Amino acid sequence: MSTKEKVLKYLEDTDSKYVSGQVLAKNLGFSRTAVWKSITDLRKEGAQIEAVTNRGYHLVRKSYKLSKEIIASSLPDLDVYFFDEIDSTNNYCKFLASKDKSRNALVVSNKQLKGRGRLGRVFESPSGGVYFSLLLNTKKSSVDNLLVTSAASIAVSRAIQKVCNIETQIKWVNDIYLNSKKVCGILTEGIIDMEAGRIAAMVVGIGINFVTPKKSFAPELVPILTSLYENESKIPLDVSMNELVVTVIVELLKIWNNIEDRSFLDEYRKRSNVIHTYVNIIREGKSESAYVEGINASAHLLVKLDNCDEIVELGTGEITLRLNNDKIASI
Ligand code: BTN
Repeated sequence: MSTKEKVLKYLEDTDSKYVSGQVLAKNLGFSRTAVWKSITDLRKEGAQIEAVTNRGYHLVRKSYKLSKEIIASSLPDLDVYFFDEIDSTNNYCKFLASKDKSRNALVVSNKQLKGRGRLGRVFESPSGGVYFSLLLNTKKSSVDNLLVTSAASIAVSRAIQKVCNIETQIKWVNDIYLNSKKVCGILTEGIIDMEAGRIAAMVVGIGINFVTPKKSFAPELVPILTSLYENESKIPLDVSMNELVVTVIVELLKIWNNIEDRSFLDEYRKRSNVIHTYVNIIREGKSESAYVEGINASAHLLVKLDNCDEIVELGTGEITLRLNNDKIASI
């Protein structure tokens, strides 16, 4: 980690307290000139660092940018890759896996030029959002592997709650909703070991609209997409994008390491915005109305289709689920 990044991390970690240049220099093992130069450079990059005589420095706003070093130092077991822009963080994970499937890695970007969504759709990924993919080596059963997307939905919801103090809902199976609009999408892809005939690793790609300006969404998506924060001035000073990414990964790994016990599914059901509602199920281009009875231990949807008393179990497969208040289907 560079001197500058260490100073930034120290200021982030001390929350809103003031730290003198002397304390920073002593605790980080740098000269006071090096600390002063770092503060000057960080300010030039946009960090709001206040200096008050006899009190010291104070980071006014935490989230001003993503930092590879801050994320990497909080997740020492992962190889962290950071880009200002990239085609797709999922693609980069696949490239890493083509070299070594056994290492877990996190790829983070400020922007994606060819962000990918479910069912071959485009995932718009302008600046203001945070886009990241976890390359996760797996030796678990295929049934457990299939639960990773639902686990990621819970991890994202928990992280948004912990870091931003915002309550979100999950639209089965992998969309995170805020005030009836989509704020995050998740795309999981499997990497197969052909010789062993099993999934060797998975790429869990997550895109969160953090402070994405409305004007950067395609006009037809504006009514159905939202951001955690409408603009920078609305971001609480102590909310950090870095902390958000780290918390998602920590929560995801926590659930993943105990995925066999399925205990996260109760929380998944509580956060679901589709249980006990009418939805439209779109399969092979055909739309059917259905009532959602519940979500089972495989995270499959249990629905009663119109004109049918039987309960039908639906896996994620090629289904699009549209809430009755959704304006369009293709998100
Ligand atoms: C969806 O809503 O259809 C899923 C969207 C998943 C988007 C994320 S952003 C990070 C990762 N890279 C991609 O290209 N896609 C995923």
